[in-house]
Amino acid sequence: MKADDDDLLPVAGNGLLHRRLFLRGGAGLLGALALLEARPARADGPPDVPPWMKAPGEGMRPYGSRSRHEEHVSRLVGAMPGTTGAGSSRTPLEALEGIITPSALHFERHHAGVPDIDPARHKLLIHGLVERPLVFDVESLSRYPHVSRIRFLECSGNSAPNNAPEPPQQSAGALHGLVSCSEWTGVPLGLLLDETGVRPEARWVVAEGADAAAMSRSVPLQKAFDDALVALYQNGERLRPEQGYPMRLFLPGWEGNMSVKWLRRLKVTATPSMTKDETSKYTDLLPNGEALQFTFPMGVKSVITSPSGTMTMRGPGVYRVSGLAWSGAGRIRRVEVSADGGRTWAEAALDEPVLPKALCRFRIAWRWDGGPAVLQSRAIDETGAVQPTRSALLAERGPSYRYHYHAIQSWAVTPDGEVRNVYA
Ligand code: CO
Repeated sequence: MKADDDDLLPVAGNGLLHRRLFLRGGAGLLGALALLEARPARADGPPDVPPWMKAPGEGMRPYGSRSRHEEHVSRLVGAMPGTTGAGSSRTPLEALEGIITPSALHFERHHAGVPDIDPARHKLLIHGLVERPLVFDVESLSRYPHVSRIRFLECSGNSAPNNAPEPPQQSAGALHGLVSCSEWTGVPLGLLLDETGVRPEARWVVAEGADAAAMSRSVPLQKAFDDALVALYQNGERLRPEQGYPMRLFLPGWEGNMSVKWLRRLKVTATPSMTKDETSKYTDLLPNGEALQFTFPMGVKSVITSPSGTMTMRGPGVYRVSGLAWSGAGRIRRVEVSADGGRTWAEAALDEPVLPKALCRFRIAWRWDGGPAVLQSRAIDETGAVQPTRSALLAERGPSYRYHYHAIQSWAVTPDGEVRNVYA
């Protein structure tokens, strides 16, 4: 397909091109553009024979690992001062493609390190306001029906660096990498609650982890029956220790802290339990000194991962802009991209499948003319919720609110090609 001026007609200010470039039939056009802009070397004869074709390669390994040339792609680990096991590690969002986060790069947030749990000795107790308290182990859970769901997990503290008065000059992953997306497989929690028989006065269930912090959160019973899982597998294999081996609670779309890892106890109650992890932490302080408690769903959100903070542009030309969008309320309906700091917007193409409460990959072509630009993405979910600007979010919440930051990210592109975090 030949790229003519009509096809390249920008649809929004500062060079954003029509999303049909990424839809069916547009790939040829995009290829033509890439050829135009990338200017690959002209082939002038048969290929050479590289060293790896001259001798047989390595043997097979029982458990695989990535190429040694990719070892620079890693989580950004930040332990809290004076601890080794409390803190977080962030997914390098800018280095990844698609929507599935490799298990080895899934973000982590621990409060007392990663316990080394013997699965043969680990048990899950369900008790409290139930007819029959029951104890499950890995073996007994394995006999219940399993379901698999591709869902994001996001720490409610994600993106908090952007609360700072000056924009931190960091990568997309350093700023927003407390979100990841996996296929989680396990037993619907409602099945297990039905086995125990929930009493009529029950409204909540407190979940407790088997780490040294005994992480505990109160979960409305409705959520437990709605779409909660006791997950045993992540991306097809048993959970990693840092993701809760051998079993974790998984609450799609809700703040990550509630998906209690190393799950050992579910106590059914009439009221929330007011644990330390939902009173001193994970509450949202308002300007009047009151705090919001039990703010569970993660807001509609997106971030452009390419190009993004700390990257350098190769020079004027057509770029494939891409990023991630997600919402705790369900599916992403639409993502819009601006190259002029939010004055005009173009609709991005969404990669299929667009799943509820999962990361969604968006793409759009952008012809950068070498001048100053501010790239932004704005997600809209199936409930009609629109990702807010930073100033609107901060005005609504006041200066002390730290969690649930989900404002539009602005990346300024300077004429010399630097990509910088800015507050537009
Ligand atoms: Co919250």
